[in-house]
Amino acid sequence: MKVDVLLGLQWGDEGKGKIVDVLTPKYDIIARFQGGPNAGHTLIFDGKKHVLHTIPSGVFRPGTKNVVGNGVVIDPIIFKREITQLLEAGVDPRPDLLISRRAHLITPTHRLLDAASEQAKGKAKIGSTLKGIGPTYMDKTGRNGLRVGDLTSGKFDERYQALRTKHLGLLQQYPNFEYDLESVEDEWMAAVHELGELQLIDTEHYLNEALDAGKRVLAEGAQGTMLDIDFGTYPFVTSSNTIAAGACNGLGVGPGRIGEVIGIFKAYCTRVGSGPFPTELLDATGEELRQAGGEFGATTGRPRRCGWLDLVQLRYACRVNGVTQLAMMKADVLSGLEEVPVAHAYAHAGGTTQNLPYGIEPDEVTPAYTNHVGWQEDLTGITTEAGLPDSIKSYIAMVEKEMATPISIVSVGPDRAQTIVR
Ligand code: IMP
Repeated sequence: MKVDVLLGLQWGDEGKGKIVDVLTPKYDIIARFQGGPNAGHTLIFDGKKHVLHTIPSGVFRPGTKNVVGNGVVIDPIIFKREITQLLEAGVDPRPDLLISRRAHLITPTHRLLDAASEQAKGKAKIGSTLKGIGPTYMDKTGRNGLRVGDLTSGKFDERYQALRTKHLGLLQQYPNFEYDLESVEDEWMAAVHELGELQLIDTEHYLNEALDAGKRVLAEGAQGTMLDIDFGTYPFVTSSNTIAAGACNGLGVGPGRIGEVIGIFKAYCTRVGSGPFPTELLDATGEELRQAGGEFGATTGRPRRCGWLDLVQLRYACRVNGVTQLAMMKADVLSGLEEVPVAHAYAHAGGTTQNLPYGIEPDEVTPAYTNHVGWQEDLTGITTEAGLPDSIKSYIAMVEKEMATPISIVSVGPDRAQTIVR
């Protein structure tokens, strides 16, 4: 069997959690491969809303195994809180939750370094979620990191103290940054030892053996392609590979084991945090989209920046991920518009391009729009493809043609039930 990968094609918040939840009955195992508690995956069913940060979105379907892969970074405090919230919602994730020993731990001082670094950047800040993601991946690649497997090595305290000392030294570079480490350290220590009591395994062996045994695996991406450390709008990106290749690194499966790559995009575009966003709407229409789409961060509550669908950006994302099928989200939010503008090319360097260039700051590219006929109907109650208005059918056909890729899922509302599988 192969690993199917599901990931975001824009700047995150495309609705990955919902689609993983919808697709989970087709899979035996859901595996997160990168990112950490910077993610906020929202799932709505039976009138209840659940937000997951580190735990895979398969957790609500009994019998599904949920793997936190080696590419993920874990904050034990947030992880514990997630488990507590699930228990309160009547779901005990622990029996089916498997955590890679190779996953790195976010320590309290990683979070402090994240905050200090952002504060020092001033106007140039990344707009990080301040969950300690950047400093933790820096320690991973710098070969100083603390891993889940260290918990059972007998050397955990020694390694933790060495990292803490290093970080306190680094924090001295930020004399204006005030912090209180002790208040969170006890909570963190208690939480990390609770994490140590969960099922810590070598997930690379588990997953490859499961595939050999015919199990179906879905890799659940976090953030989005334009936040990828290599292919995103650097430096305004996260610190991991969010693209499909990240599933190989982040789970320990070979490229030949990747099957379908399901790319998720919104029928418009959003971004949270700083960085270029060519089709951003800074006017009242942007605000209307934000309100209609409930575009506020699931992790930080920050208002998301909103804009039109950008086919140049989407084409690039399909290319670097090798997308084989698409899922279009939130077309219902655009209902009522006479026309829906879509960027089909950029004016760039004295010409026109459909290939995303190296730089996409406002002085480097200007989007060229085509106006698509809008749809007036409320889509949220439609359950079949045949029931969709003609204008949205032609919007779907236009994107499929431009991307040379089929749209296999159209989501028309946040609930599990509001999903049309084509
Ligand atoms: P960090 O990963 O928290 O350091 O944040 C880096 C950038 O990625 C910031 O612009 C964040 O707003 C953005 N970001 C991180 N995680 C997510 C996510 O799950 N959804 C959307 N944006 C994200």
